[in-house]
Amino acid sequence: MVESDLDSANRAQLRTEFTRAAPGFSERTKGRFDDMNVVSFSRWQPSETVIEVGAGTGNFLSLFKGGSLLLGIDAVPGMLAQARTHYPDLLAAGGDGRCLPLPSDSFDLVVCAQMLHHVHKPLEILQEMKRVVRPSGRLLVIDQVAPDKFEEAIAMNELDLLRDPSHASSRPASAFCVLFNLAGLSIADERRWEGSQRLSQWMWRGEFPEERIRRVREFIAERGGATGMDWRALGDDYIYTRRRIMLLATKD
Ligand SMILES: C[S@@+](CC[C@H](N)C(=O)[O-])C[C@H]1O[C@@H](n2cnc3c(N)ncnc32)[C@H](O)[C@@H]1O
Repeated sequence: MVESDLDSANRAQLRTEFTRAAPGFSERTKGRFDDMNVVSFSRWQPSETVIEVGAGTGNFLSLFKGGSLLLGIDAVPGMLAQARTHYPDLLAAGGDGRCLPLPSDSFDLVVCAQMLHHVHKPLEILQEMKRVVRPSGRLLVIDQVAPDKFEEAIAMNELDLLRDPSHASSRPASAFCVLFNLAGLSIADERRWEGSQRLSQWMWRGEFPEERIRRVREFIAERGGATGMDWRALGDDYIYTRRRIMLLATKD
């Protein structure tokens, strides 16, 4: 693994952003996967081991209730500390998704949720996930998607970056299929999801600096229509459409 300047800048931003966000992150994002039927989509059985790359405060991994081994890996200690507090049954360990501190061919299900848009080279993460999953195991990836229209994807990413400097790229759904192909993964199932969310939920006051919230609101007022996210005013708040993709793959 070669660490570029972009990688190390991204590392530093991740640590700053998620250390600040950690105390409120679990509560702010609670329930965001509730209507996606993640567990049935993954074909998971409680006897199967699960590891999550970029597990954060553990909300996603905790969906696999009663699992024999649930291990969350994350690069930011503050997020892991919250995971241990909120979900004492999970194992939470520090590590980088680009070189997981885990043996090859070992886990039944390797998952990654809302994390790939924080990395500049997602192929490295998928290849590591593929390495640690056992030969007949499965990989599950969820991430937000950008519109297919190039100009809208650019504008959405500008907004994402304004909100969170650790953002790398929201990618169109087609990019995930290309990445899985490049990683030598076979897509077994795919689901798209969309739902309405509020700006006040995306950016909690107290978690995000006031100045940043102000700049994001300005961007939405001026260019929200260009992002393909359907921004519309709702009283003093804004509402928008969040779109996600969920992919299940095998490594044969
Ligand atoms: C938006 S949070 C998602 C947390 C969790 N998956 C969830 O959905 O609740 C993204 C997490 O990915 C972690 N992360 C980003 N890049 C990483 C990397 N290369 N290795 C390990 N963790 C990483 C961040 O520290 C952060 O906790």
